[in-house]
Parts: sequence; structure tokens; C-alpha cells
Amino acid sequence: MNNFVYDVPVKVYFGENQLSNLGKELSKYGKKVLLTYGGGSIKKIGLYDKIVGELEKFGLELFELSGIEPNPRIESVREGAKICKEQNIDVLLAVGGGSTIDATKYIAAGACVDFDPWDFFSKWAPIEKALPIVTILTLSAAGSEMDSGGVISNLETQDKIGRLSPHLLPKVSFLDPTVTYTVSPYQTACGSVDMMSHIMEVYFNMEKDFYMLDCFMEGMMKTIIKYTPIAMKEPENYEARANLMWTSSWAINGFVNGGKNQEWSCHPMEHELSAKYDITHGLGLALLTPRWLEYCLDETTVSKYYQFGVNVFDIDKNLGQMEVAKESIKKLSEFFFDTLGLDSTFTKVGIKPEDFQIMAQKACSNGTINGFKTLSKDDIIKIFEMCL
Ligand code: NZQ
Ligand code: ZN
Repeated sequence: MNNFVYDVPVKVYFGENQLSNLGKELSKYGKKVLLTYGGGSIKKIGLYDKIVGELEKFGLELFELSGIEPNPRIESVREGAKICKEQNIDVLLAVGGGSTIDATKYIAAGACVDFDPWDFFSKWAPIEKALPIVTILTLSAAGSEMDSGGVISNLETQDKIGRLSPHLLPKVSFLDPTVTYTVSPYQTACGSVDMMSHIMEVYFNMEKDFYMLDCFMEGMMKTIIKYTPIAMKEPENYEARANLMWTSSWAINGFVNGGKNQEWSCHPMEHELSAKYDITHGLGLALLTPRWLEYCLDETTVSKYYQFGVNVFDIDKNLGQMEVAKESIKKLSEFFFDTLGLDSTFTKVGIKPEDFQIMAQKACSNGTINGFKTLSKDDIIKIFEMCL
């Protein structure tokens, strides 16, 4: 068991009618607030008006950056950082899903430097400081509301790159499950696959030393499997939305790692799909994950699949290990493609074999992905081929 430090100082307001605390929390950081959001869902659901009302009560000055797109672009980051500098913004308020929150993190960091924020990704420029960030989460998926990461796309260079820094952690996050009632069944499904993947990237690991965390991860995976179809059929089911929302945060806030340092596998592969084809992150993960599991299954890894199959999908524990393993991959595929109704092949979503070489090359830019199984460029191409 490796030593580790767990330090995630994000204050969370969970539940309905918590926005009455928004003005008080923002005021701790100053008067000038930059509100960031996406394509307008926050206006449709009435959240925008509520936020403006709360800010007015505390005499806060409001500035805005809207139009942050899914797979958020570096252009939004540049624009936001410019506003922060010109207007001397004190605190950022990100309202949306992972895309808005991720972009806001780099706006907050970009506001504190003199160079182009793309240097954070292309040159690995240090992230030493950021303006304070408060978030209101509207989609359960990425976990950006409680983690130190963020992923930004550059369409010009066809890159999608993520980084981590403790300076990017939000100070406060508001998690009200009722604001996710309007999330479409498709985005609900993609969000849940993303959460599932955040857990599986850690869970599928041959270090067998943290029983407590394995049980915790199995509980979260069962939660996703139980509540996602309910949220898709009954979008205003509070219990389902609440369970998914809290899982979003805990799947990726670092708690489940428990000192395990294994690299993630599906995420670097998926980021290349999104970078090239601008597809939804969760959809890309749904396509890749069952094939990655199939590719990594052998006598040395089978016991983890057995544990997953028995504990998460309730497969008969008396069957042979390999049989359970194969059945667990089948069950996961059925969950993604039948229950959640996501497209099941690259062909269906327009991903073409002629791009496999370059996407695989970029996915393992350090030579290999050192994850559950070490994956070379050729391995990644084989996994892509299994997705066709
Ligand atoms: O733009 P608006 O109008 O807000 O609409 C959004 C967007 O079209 C809509 N939406 C959000 N809340 C809604 C809503 N529609 C109706 N009602 C609501 N309440 O949903 C669409 C997708 O939003 P987006 O923010 O893109 O989704 P998600 O939260 O899945 O974020 C995806 C991004 O997060 C990154 C992904 O790579 C991707 O770029 N990730 C960030 C991570 C992190 N920070 O640690 C880790 C993840 O692995 C992931 O890579
Ligand atoms: Zn993800």
C-alpha cells in the first residue's frame, strides 16, 4: 500500500435551495464576479435569473463570458483571461457542466500570467496561481466541480489536453440535483459513462491492497447502473439525480486513488477521438471501454474482472473466472449500448480507420500508456480496430 496525501478543500453545498449562500460565498473573494457559462441552458432553466438576483442582494458586480462549448476551446479561455485582466475580476463563477468549469479553471490561471494560456498545454508552463473559482454544477459527469483537473481543446492543432494543479480546485461548489432535471437522456447517459470510466480507470489495477476503496468503487458503479436508466426515463426523479450528482464528484476527486499511481488508459485514447472528431467525451469512452477490457483480459488480469463481474453485475460467483470475466464485459456493453442506447461502433459515429495511426501516436505521446496493461501505439490501433 503506497502512502498518499488527500487534500481536497472544496466546500460543497448539496441539495435544493442552497443558492441563498451564493452571494455570501462569492463576497469572501471580492466584488467583481465573472460569470461563465455555455450555450444558454442556464437561461432556459431559470438559473441565470436566480444567480443575478443573488449577486444583486450582495451588491456584487457582474461580468459575463458565455458560449463555452462542449470540449471547451482555448479561444474561450483566452477571451475569459482577457476579461479578467481588463476588468480586474476578483472571483469566477462557473455555471454548467465539465466544459464550462474546465474552461473557467484555465481562465482563472490564465488571468495570472502574461503568456498565452495555450502554453499551459503546449509547453507545460507552470500553473502557480489562479483566481478563486466557485461553481454551480448543472450536469453530473466530469467531476470538475471537485477535482483539480481540466481538459482544453485546440481545434487548430487538433489537440485535447488535460492537466492537474491544486490551484485549479474550486473553492466552493453548489450541487443541486434539481438543476440537472433538464439534462437530456443522451447527455445523462454520456455523463454516467464518464463517471463509470473515472472509476474503472482506477479500479482495474492489479494492486490488491485496498479492499475498502474497491468496495467504495463497486458501490459507485452499482449506483450508476441503477440510477442512470431511471434518470433517463424520469428526468425529475430527485433520488436518481442526487445519487448521480454526488457520484460525479466522488468518482474523480482523488479519494478512490488511495496512493495508486497507475496511468489512465481509456481517457488518453478518448481525448484523441474528441480532438479529431469533436464527439461527446462519454460517448467516446463508451465505445472504447468494453474493447479495452477485452484487449487487456488474460490469465494475469482475469481475477479483477471476476471481482468486477461478481460484485458489480451480480454474476454467479460459482462460474469459472474467465467465464465471469467475459460475461462482465458483455454486461457492461449491454449497459452502454442497449440500456443507455449509445452508439456502439466507430462506424456509426463516423470515426475512420485512416486516422487511427495519428490518434494512436498522440494517445501515447510518451511512447506507451502505462495503465492496467501497458499499451503501445500498435496496441491502441488494435483497440481502435475492435471498435469499428
Ligand atoms: O452549453 P449549455 O447550453 O450549458 O449545454 C450543455 C452542453 O451542450 C448541456 N447541459 C449542461 N447542463 C445542462 C445542459 N442541458 C440542459 N440542462 C442542463 N442542466 O450539456 C452539454 C454538455 O455539457 P458539457 O459541459 O460539455 O458536459 P460534461 O459535463 O460531460 O463535460 C465534458 C467535458 O469535461 C471534460 C471532458 O473531456 C469534456 O471536455 N472532462 C473533464 C474532467 C475533469 N475536469 O477532471 C475529467 C473528465 O474525464 C473529462 O475529460
Ligand atoms: Zn472523463
